[in-house]
Amino acid sequence: MQKKEIRRLISEMTLEEKAGLCSGLDFWHTKNVSRLGIPSVMVSDGPHGLRKQDFKADHLGVNDSIKAVCMPAACATAASFDRELVEKMGESIGKSCQHEGVSIVLGPAVNIKRSPLCGRNFEYFSEDPYLAGEIASAYIKGVQSQNVGTSIKHFAANSQEHRRMSSSSNVDERTLREIYFPAFEAAVKNSAPWTVMCSYNRINGTYASENKWLLTDVLRNEWGFEGYVMSDWGAVSDRVKGLEAGLDLEMPSSGGANDKKIVEAVRDGRLDEAVVDRAVERILEAAYRYLENAKPETPWDKEADHLLSARIAEECMVLLKNSGALPIDKKAKAAFIGEFAERPRYQGGGSSHINSFKVTSALEAAKENGLDVIYARGYDTKADCASEEMTAEAVSAAKTSDVAVVFAGLPDSYESEGYDRRHMRLPEYQNKLISAVAKANPNTVVVLHNGSPVETPWIDEVNAVLEAYLGGQAVGIAEVRILYGDANPCGRLAETFPKKLSDNPSYLYYFGEENEADYREGIFVGYRYYKKKEIPVQFPFGHGLSYTEFEYSDLRLSSEKIKDTETLSATVRIKNVGSRAGKTVAQLYVKDTESSAIRPVMELKGFEKIYLEPGESKDVEFKLGKRAFAYWSRELKDWHVETGEFVIMIGESSEDIRVSGAVTVESTDVIKRKYSADSIFMDIMADPVAREKFIPFLKDLGQVRPAEDGTEAAKEAMSEAMNNAMQNSLPLRGVVMFSGGRVPWELIERIVEVLNGE
Ligand code: BGC
Repeated sequence: MQKKEIRRLISEMTLEEKAGLCSGLDFWHTKNVSRLGIPSVMVSDGPHGLRKQDFKADHLGVNDSIKAVCMPAACATAASFDRELVEKMGESIGKSCQHEGVSIVLGPAVNIKRSPLCGRNFEYFSEDPYLAGEIASAYIKGVQSQNVGTSIKHFAANSQEHRRMSSSSNVDERTLREIYFPAFEAAVKNSAPWTVMCSYNRINGTYASENKWLLTDVLRNEWGFEGYVMSDWGAVSDRVKGLEAGLDLEMPSSGGANDKKIVEAVRDGRLDEAVVDRAVERILEAAYRYLENAKPETPWDKEADHLLSARIAEECMVLLKNSGALPIDKKAKAAFIGEFAERPRYQGGGSSHINSFKVTSALEAAKENGLDVIYARGYDTKADCASEEMTAEAVSAAKTSDVAVVFAGLPDSYESEGYDRRHMRLPEYQNKLISAVAKANPNTVVVLHNGSPVETPWIDEVNAVLEAYLGGQAVGIAEVRILYGDANPCGRLAETFPKKLSDNPSYLYYFGEENEADYREGIFVGYRYYKKKEIPVQFPFGHGLSYTEFEYSDLRLSSEKIKDTETLSATVRIKNVGSRAGKTVAQLYVKDTESSAIRPVMELKGFEKIYLEPGESKDVEFKLGKRAFAYWSRELKDWHVETGEFVIMIGESSEDIRVSGAVTVESTDVIKRKYSADSIFMDIMADPVAREKFIPFLKDLGQVRPAEDGTEAAKEAMSEAMNNAMQNSLPLRGVVMFSGGRVPWELIERIVEVLNGE
C-alpha cells in the first residue's frame, strides 16, 4: 500500500484507535481496526526456526508451538563464516513463515558475547562485531527475500541475562560504537530489517525502550533505519516517553493500560499526536508490505528442511583438535558414549525453543549408515549425574572398540534464556567420564554440544575434539558425516575459548552490582583483549582444523598508500595442499601499527569461505574501506583514521596469520581544534595545521624550565629528556609562570588567537 493511502487511513482513525495500534492485540499479533478494514498480522520467534504459538501463548518457550524445523542455533551458524549458507537458512525460515501466515520472524539476535557466562550466548553470533554483522545481514536477506520481515534484536548492549529487565549496561560511547552497535549498524545498512527489537535493559541509565539517542538519533538519523521499532516482550516502562523516543510498537499487549496513557498524554498536550501517527504509519507499512505479498500457498517441506539443517550443521562444526583419530575408518568398531549420542542437545531454552518435528541423533545416523557402533549411555542429564555402573560400561565399550567417541556437553539446565551460568565447566561427571574413557582408549574423540565455551581440562588426554555447538535437530547426521570423513570440517570459532573463566576480560565486573553493570573492559572484548594482554587461550578466535591443509601466498595490495576515502583491495592466493577437498575461511585482520588512540592489536575486517579440490588454488579478494582502519574518536564523535601505516594480515585464525603486507592510509578529516591557554605543547605540535602556526613563536617562548631552587644539583637533575617531557605536557599558560615572568601573558593570548584564527 502506498504511503499516501496509509496516511489517509490514519487520518480516518480516532485517537483511541491509533493509540491502540501502538501495542499488540495479544502475545503475537498486532491490532486490527475492523471498521477500516485494517487486519492484524502475526509475529513469531525465531531465530533458528519458526516458533509459532497458536494457543496458550507465552514467550519463554514453555508451551508448545507448532511442529517445525530446528536449524542450528546462532552460536553454530556464526561459526560457518558463510554468508550464503546463512542466507539459505533465512530463506527456508522465511518460506515457513509464509506457509504459516507469520509476517515477521523475531530475529536475528546479534548481541555481543561479552562473557562466556551469558545464558543466551547460544542465540548470539560472536564476540566480534564485524562477523556478527555480516552473518546477521545474510540471515535478514534470506528471510526478507520471501517477503517476511525480521526483527534484529536486542538493541542494545544486552549481554547478560542477570537482571536483564532492570540492569543498566554502563558503556562508554566508543565501546558502544566499536563493539556493541556495529552488528546492528551493518544489518540496517546492508539488509534493511523491517523491524528492530529494543532490549530490556537500560543503557547508561535510560531504558533502551525510551532511549531517544539510541532509537532515533543513532538508529534512524545516522544509520537510516526505515522500519519500526518494537519492544522486547515487556520491555516498556514509560510508554509515552518510549513513543517519543522512537519505540513504535509495544509487545505484547498491555491490556490497554498503556494505550490509555498515550491517549491521555495527547489530550493533556504532553504528547504531539503526530508522534502517534508516525508510529502507526510505520507499523502499518510493514503489515501491508507483508499482506500484499502473502503467499499462504507456499509449500513447507519439513523433510527437505531437516536435510538442509543437517547440511548447515555440517558447515558449522569446528574441529578443535585432531591428533589423527579423525576421520574414523568406516570399517572400524566405534563406541559412542554419552547420552547426547542418543538424545543430542541441539538447541537452547527460552523463547527460541523450537518444537522439532523430528530429531536425528548420531547413534541413529550411524545405524542408518550401517556403521559398526556400540553405545554406552555414560551419564544421565536429567539426574545430572553418572553412576559407577555407567562409567564402567563406558570404559568397557571404549576398551573393546577401535575408537571411542564421547558425546559431551551442557545439559539444558546449564544454559538458557533468563539466567547466566556461574562457571564455564562441563558437569564434573562428564569431565571424569572423558578422562576414564581416554585412559581406556588412546583414540578418544570428544564431541561437544554447548552454546558457549567450556573448560576442557582433559584436552591433553584425548585425541580429537569436535565442537558441534547446538547444531539443530539434524545434528546427528552432520556429526556422523564429519566423524567418518564424508564431510570435511570447515567451521571456525566465532569466539575465543579462554583457558579459564577468570581470564575473560569482563570477569571482574560481569553481572554488575545490583542494577549497575559496568562494561569496564571497554573495547577489549574477546580476542581484542587476549591478544593485547598476551594471555594464552585454549582455542583462539577463528580457529578450526580441516582434514586437508591450505597454503597462503602472493598477497597483493592494490596500493601502498591510500586516502581514507579510497578502497584498498587485498588479494591472496590460497591452495589446497592436502589430499582431500575442503573449505577454508580466509580471515583478514587489520593492525594499526602506531596509534594515539588505545586500540586492539588486530581486528577482523574481512573473511571469505572458499572450497578447493586437492591441488586447486584460487585468488580471494577483499575490499577495505575507511571503517576497516578507523576507530571511534571521542574528540570528533565520529569514525577517524589516523594517518599512518596499517598491516593487513590474512590467515587461518587470529593466531595463525599466513601472509601480511603494509599500507599507509592518509586521513582526509579536516579537524578544526579549538585552542586555549590550557592547551598543551604536545597537542599543538601533533596538529599539522596548528604546528605550522606555532613554530614561529617557539623562539619567543624559549626553553622552559620548571622553577629551580637555584642549586647546581637541581639543575643537573633536570635532564634534557625530562625537560622535554615536562615541556610536552605543559599548558601554554605554564610558560608565564615557569619563565619567571620573562614571557608575558599577552604573548600567550596572542598565540591562542593565532592558533584559532583562519
Ligand atoms: C525475548 C525475545 C523474544 C520475545 C518473544 C523475550 O523474552 O527476549 O528474544 O523474541 O521474548 O518471545
